[in-house]
Amino acid sequence: MYRSLVTGCGAYLPAQILTNAELAKKVDTTDEWIRQRTGIRQRHIAAAGEMTSDLGTAAAKEAMAQAGVSPSEIDFIVCATSTPDETFPATATRIQARLGVGPVAAFDVQAVCSGFVYGLAVADNFLRVGQAKTALVIGAETFSRILDWEDRSTCVLFGDGAGAVVLQATNGGQAAGDRGVLSTHLYADGTHHDALYVDGGPSSTMTVGRLRMAGQEVYRHAVVRMAEAIDAALEANGLTPGDVDWLVPHQANIRIIESMGRRLNLPSDRVVVTVDRHANTSAASIPLALTEAVGDGRIRQGDLVLMEAMGGGFTWGSALVRW
Ligand code: UT7
Repeated sequence: MYRSLVTGCGAYLPAQILTNAELAKKVDTTDEWIRQRTGIRQRHIAAAGEMTSDLGTAAAKEAMAQAGVSPSEIDFIVCATSTPDETFPATATRIQARLGVGPVAAFDVQAVCSGFVYGLAVADNFLRVGQAKTALVIGAETFSRILDWEDRSTCVLFGDGAGAVVLQATNGGQAAGDRGVLSTHLYADGTHHDALYVDGGPSSTMTVGRLRMAGQEVYRHAVVRMAEAIDAALEANGLTPGDVDWLVPHQANIRIIESMGRRLNLPSDRVVVTVDRHANTSAASIPLALTEAVGDGRIRQGDLVLMEAMGGGFTWGSALVRW
């Protein structure tokens, strides 16, 4: 069995920033409400014509540069997104073409805010069995395009962005030590569809639709389900909360993030937070946060990094990585 090492991280955020104060001029909300209930201060918004594949390509290029891998070395691309450029083909194939990567597997996974954890799990399993050697896992979203900008209960919560990691297979040995993706745990319960969904799609309404969310119901499930996914990750590896160096959670709400940190008994400076600046970027939020914390030197080789997420479906899951 091989192990998957994370060898590079990259991120991209659109240039335009939309602050809470600017939003308060468009809908009946306040900076104070948004900050107190969610921790969000601002979000990035893709420019007209700037697509999910543009964001994902930029993040992937940065991750490949950090890993020192060329397009010819990439043999697997998975893009987690719920806001693809088009209904088909997969956004991953558009990114593949832009990067100049050869004829290798490239496809999207759609698990909404859990998408990056799902994508990481898929790529990790291909690498473990030796079916791929160097994978790009991308989370890229333009949620601004599916928001109802007249619904204050949802339009204040989301932003656009992309993050990516390069995963490389190692067959262990001295150099790798116990590093790499230790485990991934994925879950879904489709009975909760109505709590978080987009009210459109090619086979239902033949429209793109807008995001709809029963926030409190999602919140209640998020804290319970993500805690279960964290427990499953630790138990599967014979580890305890005290072993975790960094929590890199999905960035939806600072209150949810803090409650996960408390559960692990982690000091707040061991929890990577970007929700204040990025808002909820769905599948992009974890790789964006990872890229920041690796880039500024917080996450270092040997650290135990725990990721968790929950999203529409409901889907949820966790990934444990020895950096
Ligand atoms: O990424 C996928 C996972 N998503 C999540 O994890 C999101 C989970 N949910 C949440 O984060 C929170 O439920 C929200 C941030 C969405 C909402 O916070 P809340 O504390 O649950 O507020 P609420 O929905 O109970 O609304 C409280 C009040 C309501 O007014 P009344 O009925 O008490 O008079 C809302 O109408 O706040 C009102 N409200 C707003 N007021 C000002 C809702 N949105 C806004 C707003 N500005 N933007």
